[in-house]
Amino acid sequence: MVRQEFLPFAPPLIGEEEISEVVATLRSGWITTGPKTKRFESEFAAYLGAPGALALNSCTAGLHTALVTLGVGPGDEVISTPLTFAASINVIEHVGARPVLADVQPDTLNIDPAEVEANIGPRTKAIIPVHFAGHPVDLDAIDDLARRHGLHVLEDAAHALPARYKGRWIGSGKNPVAFSFYATKNLTTGEGGMLTGSPEFLERARIVSLHGMSRDAWKRYDKSGQWYYEVLLPGFKYNMTDIQAAIGIWQLRKLASFEQRRRAVAAAYDRGFADDDALEAPTERPDVEHAWHLYVLRLRLEALRIDRDQFIDELTRRNIGTSVHFIPIHLHPYYREKYRFGPETYPIAYSNYRRMISLPLNARLTDADVGNVIDAVRDVARTYRR
Ligand SMILES: Cc1ncc(COP(=O)(O)O)c(C=O)c1O
Repeated sequence: MVRQEFLPFAPPLIGEEEISEVVATLRSGWITTGPKTKRFESEFAAYLGAPGALALNSCTAGLHTALVTLGVGPGDEVISTPLTFAASINVIEHVGARPVLADVQPDTLNIDPAEVEANIGPRTKAIIPVHFAGHPVDLDAIDDLARRHGLHVLEDAAHALPARYKGRWIGSGKNPVAFSFYATKNLTTGEGGMLTGSPEFLERARIVSLHGMSRDAWKRYDKSGQWYYEVLLPGFKYNMTDIQAAIGIWQLRKLASFEQRRRAVAAAYDRGFADDDALEAPTERPDVEHAWHLYVLRLRLEALRIDRDQFIDELTRRNIGTSVHFIPIHLHPYYREKYRFGPETYPIAYSNYRRMISLPLNARLTDADVGNVIDAVRDVARTYRR
């Protein structure tokens, strides 16, 4: 019953449309930021009902650009979650601010608003909530805290495309929101990202993201363009290319079908694991629509004779690719040593990290693949039952 070929964890799903659009872009005479990037920005904003969108070369670039645009810097503190990819926290260090971590909620593994509140102090300037795995954070509670304490909220939506909180798309509100189009994401451009937010915010962010220049290259070199520009601040080089946007335009058109497939796979996993009490399926609260970027299965270790790492080895032996999201920030040497964290500083993030496995979840999966994953997981759980 072992699968013959290795099932990769998260391969992209790129079609002929994306390939043709990239080739057309390469032949067009304009390959960096230009008309396709503009089109991708407006179609992306329209899809989510976002007030505006700025295409960049990564989500990390979006988070960094947003913090600089919001004026977060040395002496400031930014509250975020320990259960995220390093990028969410690295950007706080990049602007010279201090990251303050707040533990997560046990069901969604999203940042706990009560923990955020307990960590707000006189230096707190912003909160970076991460929509973990694609499940929206409790935005009303976070926004309410921000309003009461005069803080910025910068949402890390690397996983949350498309996701809804109380009927509203993530990215459609006033907060700056950063999306990722990295190769494994729900929509990919190979590398890439998008920042949504108010038009005034994005106007400033656009300047920060491109050398601090007052006019971008595309506008300078088209027929009506002028050669003159001014550098208003020492900005970054974070622009998206039209080659990336060519992929994104088609991925966006397919997003609804990708979303449908991801949701169906997650539901099949839920059904497949429901009758084994060593396996805990992820939560979807009733007031959200999960983007199902990740399917994070949690093991009830007390019911098993093996730990999570051995469970992963057993799945690899059965040709199932997996991953772990995430090694908590406070366990990484840089952060552990700088801020003197121990594993138990964030006990909920740590105890869940020790029992989590991300299963393959992508739009390429066939029903047979999904069946193979369910069989393999159930087989390992049965074989190593205590
Ligand atoms: C939660 C989270 N934030 C930010 C990022 C960074 O995204 P990018 O690779 O587009 O910079 C990732 C990437 O995996 C992520 O998982």
